[in-house]
Amino acid sequence: MNLSDLNKVAQAMVQPGKGLLAADESGGTIKKRFDAIGVTSTEQSRRDYREMLFRSKQAMTQAISGVILYDETIWQDGKDGTPLIKLIEQAGAIPGIKVDEGTQGLPNCPGETITLGLDKLAERLAKYYKQGARFAKWRAVIDIGQNSSGQAIPSYAAVHANAHALARYAALCQAAQIVPIVEPEVLMDGDHDIDRCYEVTQFVLKETFQELYFQKVALEGMILKPNMAVAGKKSAKQATLDEVAEKTVRLLKACVPAAVPGIAFLSGGQSDQDATAHLDAINKIGGLPWSVTFSYGRALQAAPQQAWSGKPDNVAAGQQAFTHRARMNSLASKGEWAPELEHNKAA
Ligand code: 13P
Repeated sequence: MNLSDLNKVAQAMVQPGKGLLAADESGGTIKKRFDAIGVTSTEQSRRDYREMLFRSKQAMTQAISGVILYDETIWQDGKDGTPLIKLIEQAGAIPGIKVDEGTQGLPNCPGETITLGLDKLAERLAKYYKQGARFAKWRAVIDIGQNSSGQAIPSYAAVHANAHALARYAALCQAAQIVPIVEPEVLMDGDHDIDRCYEVTQFVLKETFQELYFQKVALEGMILKPNMAVAGKKSAKQATLDEVAEKTVRLLKACVPAAVPGIAFLSGGQSDQDATAHLDAINKIGGLPWSVTFSYGRALQAAPQQAWSGKPDNVAAGQQAFTHRARMNSLASKGEWAPELEHNKAA
């Protein structure tokens, strides 16, 4: 492992004014997104859609530091035969790859899951490195709520098993000269309030960094992709913008060592504008030991998906919608966003 080179890639991923585009939806997830806009999910429609994003020159060169790809995309060529991965590199962005293989029920933990994909991961990482990937992503999923027996979840068993898998993955990535994005996602699906989200996320992050330490992962060569502290979507007690920003900053300061170069949030089902406003408010607090930016899937792609709707005539509109969201999040990553800027979509 060359830690200095890993650190350079990690720094580039969170460079000022830029963040990550999570375009690594699995086959099932992209089908769901396409169903919502009336597009049939085929190898070609997925290629056309993603090519549209990667050819959005302004967004890609000015706001996007890297793109997380799904296995299918990293081997695909664009319409004119240019590999999609080349389009990303030509824009000055770094290609990355999702390497987890989804989740499965965890025995003895009803309602909870473990993320799969460690078997043969070393071999897969070597192939992805050869193809040009310089970072990877692994997502652990932690739900807040109650299981079928009425017990509160998450359980220690699930948090520990997922943290351990994240650390094993991260160590394998660094051995393959690939920067791991460590993503322990606490879902915002339930009816819990922001303080319960804070408490569970703290538990998950403490456990994750302990396991990263035990597996000897070099913190300087990784990126953390956490959720923010937010109330569950079904909670009657939604938190204010300032409360989300203050509690998220407090939470991360308590859990994330300063040696980590950057934190790139997931959007997790927040509205486009909430995801931007929250990131902006966090950066406006300032004085943070890490770069804090975005690694958004839905919050960057919902608008371009709608605008495109699978029609070749709408490619320019799709690119404009993507460019707008990328630019808003770029400003938010510097604490320079304001709600009025949302109206100036052409700029
Ligand atoms: P969302 O921003 O849609 O949560 O996706 C980010 C991601 O990569 C989840 O793994």
